[in-house]
Amino acid sequence: MSKKKILVTRRWPTAVEEKLTALYDVTLNESDVPMTGAEMRQALLDYDAVCPTVSDKVDAAVLDVASPRAKILASYGVGYSHIDTDAAKKAGLVVTNTPEVLSECTADLAITLMLMAARRAGEGEREVRAHKWTGWRPTHMIGRKVSGGVFGVLGFGRIGREAAKRAHFGFGMKVIYFDPFPVKPELAAELKAEKRDTIEEVLREADVVSLHMPGGKDNYHLINDDRLALMKPDAILVNTARGEVVDGAALARALKRGTIFAAGLDVFEGEPRIAPDLYECDNAVLLPHLGSATSSTREAMGWRVLSNLEAFFDGRTPPDRVA
Ligand code: DGY
Repeated sequence: MSKKKILVTRRWPTAVEEKLTALYDVTLNESDVPMTGAEMRQALLDYDAVCPTVSDKVDAAVLDVASPRAKILASYGVGYSHIDTDAAKKAGLVVTNTPEVLSECTADLAITLMLMAARRAGEGEREVRAHKWTGWRPTHMIGRKVSGGVFGVLGFGRIGREAAKRAHFGFGMKVIYFDPFPVKPELAAELKAEKRDTIEEVLREADVVSLHMPGGKDNYHLINDDRLALMKPDAILVNTARGEVVDGAALARALKRGTIFAAGLDVFEGEPRIAPDLYECDNAVLLPHLGSATSSTREAMGWRVLSNLEAFFDGRTPPDRVA
């Protein structure tokens, strides 16, 4: 039997590429630059499976293909708001993602951002590197203490709970959360986490607000001028979820006016571009979407794609089917 033809849209960890290549007839995007919509469309006609990443836009226009050869989009990443799942369904494509394996590392990064923003670590590092540090003094670069404060989680799924675990057990923080979906009581109980009925309640009460909901149109600009105005003046906003959840221009306004203390951001609407005003905010920590960027996690994500492909081509339901 001839091998299934697979297109991988970006370079992956070597071990995963090697295994994939042994099993399938694989085309790797050697140049490692994002593919165009037209190339993705063509790929749906030429390959049995296409493996996009979270930086490939697989929208309705790309998926508007009559009789695609591909029957599965096995995405490398947990978030799948880059794929129009309704259009994929209409085109007869199964969609899978890579959950669980990146929860810990993404939560680690949320805590990194919280601490960097609270303790002005990015600003401090820039000062030292610019040879502008004049020495210790009692009033120099004063941050804010987060230990013992309130950690507010919006989206109490796997990553949100991992972040909450670190905040609670590592920094003695009280955890409050909002999630529109039911959360098993035992998962909240182990962190003594208290549910709030609205996003607004979390924003008003938390010292640190950490975002962990999916992207897409339902959560587009969920954090906007009005909601930022509810946060405490010394509060910190952390986003390791999806850029479009936050109105970047509104956040820059809040940071410049000092109506919140700081923000730690790993994701941006329309990345790699970011809202231009954010560059001017010294109280914003800006990272280039590093949530899952550790070698073991990026490999684990690849193995997860592989098991989805294997199940699909064996005629089984892929373990991480999302559409
Ligand atoms: C994801 O998987 O959704 C992250 O944003 C990238 O690892």
